[in-house]
Amino acid sequence: MLIRPPSDVPSSQITPERLYFNRRDFVRTAGMAAAAALVTPAALAACEGGAAARAARQDGALGKDDEPTPYKDITTYNNFYEFGTGKDEPAENAPRYLHPRPWTVTIDGLVGKPGAYHFDDLVKPFRVESRTYRHRCVETWSMVIPWQGIPLRDVLRRAEPRPGARFVELTTLLDPRQMPGQQSSVLDWPYTEGLRLDEAMHPLALLATGIYNRPLLPQNGAPLRLVTPWKYGFKGIKSIVRIRLTDRQPATAWNKAAPNEYGFYANVNPDVDHPRWSQARERRIGDWLRRPTLPFNGYAAQVASLYAGMDLRRNF
Ligand code: MTE
Repeated sequence: MLIRPPSDVPSSQITPERLYFNRRDFVRTAGMAAAAALVTPAALAACEGGAAARAARQDGALGKDDEPTPYKDITTYNNFYEFGTGKDEPAENAPRYLHPRPWTVTIDGLVGKPGAYHFDDLVKPFRVESRTYRHRCVETWSMVIPWQGIPLRDVLRRAEPRPGARFVELTTLLDPRQMPGQQSSVLDWPYTEGLRLDEAMHPLALLATGIYNRPLLPQNGAPLRLVTPWKYGFKGIKSIVRIRLTDRQPATAWNKAAPNEYGFYANVNPDVDHPRWSQARERRIGDWLRRPTLPFNGYAAQVASLYAGMDLRRNF
């Protein structure tokens, strides 16, 4: 992320096969000039009618142009620096090195009921829910992912947050044998992330355990990763081993690496550019044209009140 500025991925690499072949047939018959028409009509409408599309999407509802991204793309185009900095490296390396079972998650800090849970025991008391969310990476690519998981707030409530708890710190496994990328110092390991407690208690925040009704693959953060769909993807910390409640804002991996580029809040905001590129538009994996990025990734109606009165330029 830090190392590779956003660049267009060759469409042959990331376009679902179905669209790829449709596209080739079309280009053959209609010629290159009409190529833009290959993007779905709904995606075009979103590009042209940015304001209308934005307004329609404040409530988080998925539109016609939010078709779920194919499983193959979700599981082969990843960021997981513990397995390399290239997009294809997590899918290559994570299944070889990472053993997501047995897996222990520790919940501690300012809680009445701290504990260390085997993954299955952590999840068992809760109903696993299916939630299809937009997924917007800070590098300006996006996907739509059908997740399964348990609400983070259910897990936190069971641990009984103490009155002084104001933040949640989440930590990825530290084990350079299972995560060979940790043998390099590209980030300060282990990867950590953080949320304000009220963000963590928001009903949209999910601890994901699956995608497309299959258990999470190692490259997507098996067995447990965070999903906060109104924030940039880097908040979605993978392969979590610790959830700690605290009274201080936790340090986070990307903020430590480049504080002027990656803030603590990381709310998707088309009006606040990354220092090296604009965040106004994004390219949905599988599309040719970029589309407007929505404030809070389209979840403003649900989450904007969390940030009432805050200067979102300063608190980026
Ligand atoms: N979690 C860990 N532990 N290590 C990482 O490098 N990358 C983050 C996030 N979680 C990362 C991580 C970034 S930058 C993104 S965009 C998302 O994971 C990517 O999630 P995906 O590969 O499932 O799409």
